[in-house]
Amino acid sequence: MGGYRVEPVQGIAGRVRVPGDKSISHRALMLGALASGTTRVTGFLEGEDCLATLRAVAALGVRVSQPAPAEVVVEGVGLHGLEPPGGVLDMGNAGTAMRLFMGLLSAQPFDTEIVGDESLMRRPMERAARPLREMGARIETREGRPPVRIRGGVPLHGIRYEMPVASAQVKSAVLLAGLYAAGETTVVEPAVTRDHTERMLQSFGVEVMARGGRATVRPPGRLEAARIAVPGDFSSAAFFIVAACMGARDPFVIEGVGVNPTRTGLLEMLALMGADLRLVNHRSAGAEPVADVEVRPARLKGIRVPERLVPLAIDEFPAFFIAAACAEGETVVTGAEELRVKESDRIASMARGLAALGVRHEVLPDGMRIEGGPFGGGVVDSGGDHRVAMSFAVASLRASAPIEILDVANVATSFPGFAPLARSVGLALAEHG
Ligand code: S3P
Repeated sequence: MGGYRVEPVQGIAGRVRVPGDKSISHRALMLGALASGTTRVTGFLEGEDCLATLRAVAALGVRVSQPAPAEVVVEGVGLHGLEPPGGVLDMGNAGTAMRLFMGLLSAQPFDTEIVGDESLMRRPMERAARPLREMGARIETREGRPPVRIRGGVPLHGIRYEMPVASAQVKSAVLLAGLYAAGETTVVEPAVTRDHTERMLQSFGVEVMARGGRATVRPPGRLEAARIAVPGDFSSAAFFIVAACMGARDPFVIEGVGVNPTRTGLLEMLALMGADLRLVNHRSAGAEPVADVEVRPARLKGIRVPERLVPLAIDEFPAFFIAAACAEGETVVTGAEELRVKESDRIASMARGLAALGVRHEVLPDGMRIEGGPFGGGVVDSGGDHRVAMSFAVASLRASAPIEILDVANVATSFPGFAPLARSVGLALAEHG
């Protein structure tokens, strides 16, 4: 399971580049597989989650090679070229892979079964299964959870789906099924969520009408192979952004970060707290905006987080809770009940860790109230949640004593190389076991 021991340090310094975006890497493999021709992906995240997608795509008869680090070549088989896998498809820890594949596999002419690790086997899958069934798909879950069994060879038809929860994974599952459905498929979101699927479908030549929380596709004749340059993952950059707010000695720079506005709610939240953040050197990687994030240390003040920002920062709350613990005064997060169904119940696992360090807080059904101030060290169990583990490593910038973080192996799902990168900027992080 492995652990980190992190000694208190005063500050960090330097420039870093974080690995490729997880959401975009999953989608590049899936759309590359369905395209006609060869898709080249650079900046690919070689984390366990995306490698699970890579293995699944290969099991579906697609030739995938990794000619160089962070580079993947996908020999697309066309929209109707996938083959039955030899066995069950295992998505490991990756909820995104499972839900997106549910959409894609609902439309295939063969049966499939999808499973995952202990954490994924506990996560809700009906949210994706329900709209897919409305489209005609035959999908079974076990009391709402994996294993997910999908019956192939059933015709799908387009629907207009008003999502009850703001979920990019559900939206994407429906849009992927919509590539095969008769007529038009529209998803309406209750709040804007990450739009990487819509952008990448366009890069593969598919016409998508996407505007203000609504996206529509029609079955295209084909997907054209593309070159996809994956930007640095904003959600991985988040740990260094928060760390630098608390203790950068000079301006700290995270280079080449994806700054799609559907992902950067954390920047707005930290700015409301008084953080000194700048996006510089704007450019684009295909359909995605990219910039360097420049951070200077600042005294953060507690805030009430505007609920509209929650879906735009959904994966950044573990890191944000640490920023709140270091701020002056009280921070309140509400409207974030989705945190309860991530890789762990992130409200519960962050609360346990904050309690271990002596940070005063109150758990709310849909968020947390955190009292900022000095805190100590202690033993924090990440519960196997990668983002919880990395967040408490960042807390060492303000802790008065060492922090032991347990069960950190899953950091490799999204951020291989986190520990050496953290050490390179000054965190005193030792790995053991
Ligand atoms: C993701 C969407 C989000 C996010 C997850 C990645 C995606 O989940 O938490 O890490 O790639 O579509 P939901 O769509 O379930 O909120």
